[in-house]
Amino acid sequence: MSVPAPIVTENDKKLLQSFLNNPEKASEVRHTMESFSKLMAYYKCAMMEIETKFNVLNEEFSLRYDRTPISGIKTRLKRLDSIIQKLQRDNTPLSLKAVETTLNDVAGVRIICSFVDDVYMLAEALLSQDDITLIKTKDYIKNPKPNGYRSLHLIISVPIFLLHEKKQMKVEIQFRTIAMDSWAALEHQLKYKKDTEFTDEMAKDLYLCSQLSAELDTRMNNLRKKVNI
Ligand code: GTP
Ligand code: MG
Repeated sequence: MSVPAPIVTENDKKLLQSFLNNPEKASEVRHTMESFSKLMAYYKCAMMEIETKFNVLNEEFSLRYDRTPISGIKTRLKRLDSIIQKLQRDNTPLSLKAVETTLNDVAGVRIICSFVDDVYMLAEALLSQDDITLIKTKDYIKNPKPNGYRSLHLIISVPIFLLHEKKQMKVEIQFRTIAMDSWAALEHQLKYKKDTEFTDEMAKDLYLCSQLSAELDTRMNNLRKKVNI
């Protein structure tokens, strides 16, 4: 059996220590660190629940229709430094309670779909499950972002069953086609190159690429309908 990666890294611990910044309160620091690790483990469990649900849906769809609507699933837990940055950005006092109540994207699951129709079919299938509660929808496929970004985002809550309690955890789910995912991945690489200015012309070009990718998705989806798969 492989050893699971640590949820709280040594760097995270140092950061947390400096955040509490009070060497006399060592036990408080330790307690906060333990509570944080526990909370992150709960988010990881929720992420695993959601990943399993999609693997089940993919399996059933494949048995029924002889093709898989999901071409890939990616999961990620938000790192402690990003959590702190986001809370500070929103002027929210740092606390574990604030993490749970104000952040929707500590646990993230990305579902890469074959066709656009699969995005909506899978989102509906998940939301029809009686343990899933929808908190927020952002449909950047029907209403793309001004830069051209497309994806369907759902914030949901899912219960995790612990030894003595049931806990509702929030998960951000991003549904994308392969074309949407490749555009987003490349846009991220291009935009975050710090030492070169990203000009308006480049932004326009990137937007045109997103339109081409939307056209590709529409054509592929039409072909799927014609082939009747
Ligand atoms: P965050 O504070 O970044 O979480 O944004 P938000 O709370 O306003 O939510 P939104 O649904 O707009 O975006 C959430 C996530 O979607 C981001 O963290 C990215 O993973 C992805 N995303 C949103 N916009 C873009 C974009 O323009 N380009 C790329 N590559 N990804 C994006
Ligand atoms: Mg985010």
